[in-house]
Amino acid sequence: MPGQFLATVEKNESLGPAICRLTILAPEIAAAGQPGQFVMLRSGRGLDPLLSRPFSLHQTFPHGRIQVLFKVLGEGTRKLAALGAGEPLGIVGPLGRGFDLAAPRAGARLGLIGGGMGVAPLFFLAREIQRRLPEFGLDVLLGARAKQELEQLLIDFGPLKIEPRVATDDGSLGHHGLVPELIEKEWGKDGKLRQVFCCGPWPMMAAVAQRCRERDWSCQVSLETMMACGFSACLGCAVAGSGQRERYFHVCKDGPVFNAADISWE
Ligand SMILES: Cc1cc2nc3c(=O)[nH]c(=O)nc-3n(C[C@H](O)[C@H](O)[C@H](O)COP(=O)(O)OP(=O)(O)OC[C@H]3O[C@@H](n4cnc5c(N)ncnc54)[C@H](O)[C@@H]3O)c2cc1C
Ligand code: FES
Repeated sequence: MPGQFLATVEKNESLGPAICRLTILAPEIAAAGQPGQFVMLRSGRGLDPLLSRPFSLHQTFPHGRIQVLFKVLGEGTRKLAALGAGEPLGIVGPLGRGFDLAAPRAGARLGLIGGGMGVAPLFFLAREIQRRLPEFGLDVLLGARAKQELEQLLIDFGPLKIEPRVATDDGSLGHHGLVPELIEKEWGKDGKLRQVFCCGPWPMMAAVAQRCRERDWSCQVSLETMMACGFSACLGCAVAGSGQRERYFHVCKDGPVFNAADISWE
């Protein structure tokens, strides 16, 4: 069950250009959180901005810690980036529906693909897949503007014995180009069916969803929209569905993870 808590910042690390990782003592959320779920965070300093901001669970740990990984964009993230160890933090969560690991296709390899700050939930997801579905092979593709945005994450994947394939916009690491282009290079080879889990900017997820559709691979996407409340009270996070049954979904309640085929990508 989601709840509202006053948590404490344990550590605030700078991981690259305007990228921060907050370690937060929040035992209820650490115990209940699933990959793909998110929390609403608000700095305990002052009332501006008034609204909390949504962030994916990047990791949960035993002993009550969670981490979020975020990019500094505006006032909300600037305030979070300025928090020091021991400072209070308003947190609501865990919220939303995470990735569905219930029924991978037999014999499939599973593919994770993340771009920009969409890489944030994928480490937690990879860890859970290895724990719950150890019989499935797992391949990870990560995209970023430049090498510095990915360096720490690549180190983190080391203990999982996963070597992500990487694409950067400036060519400073791995493939010079966009991460969906790696699907042909890395996943087209062995012909094994794949189940894909994706998080990133909308155009990237639309491209991944299309490639998966063409190959008849199932694809789950974690969507990002502006969110004012995070629990279905403001109706501000609507996205159009593809079918007749549901015209609109609310990302905070129905998602943020959806079957890509259920979303209208136009
Ligand atoms: C379910 C969910 C999970 C998320 N997880 C993460 C995460 O793990 N790490 C992370 O860095 N970010 C994540 N985000 C995005 C994050 O919530 C925004 O970056 C944050 O709200 C910006 O707040 P701000 O006050 O700093 O910026 P604001 O002042 O609110 O906005 C600054 C600029 O950023 C743009 N912006 C704000 N929100 C978004 C958004 N959701 N998508 C694209 N552009 C936006 C605004 O249009 C504006 O141009 C997630 C969003 C959702 C909905
Ligand atoms: S964020 Fe308020 S309804 Fe989804």
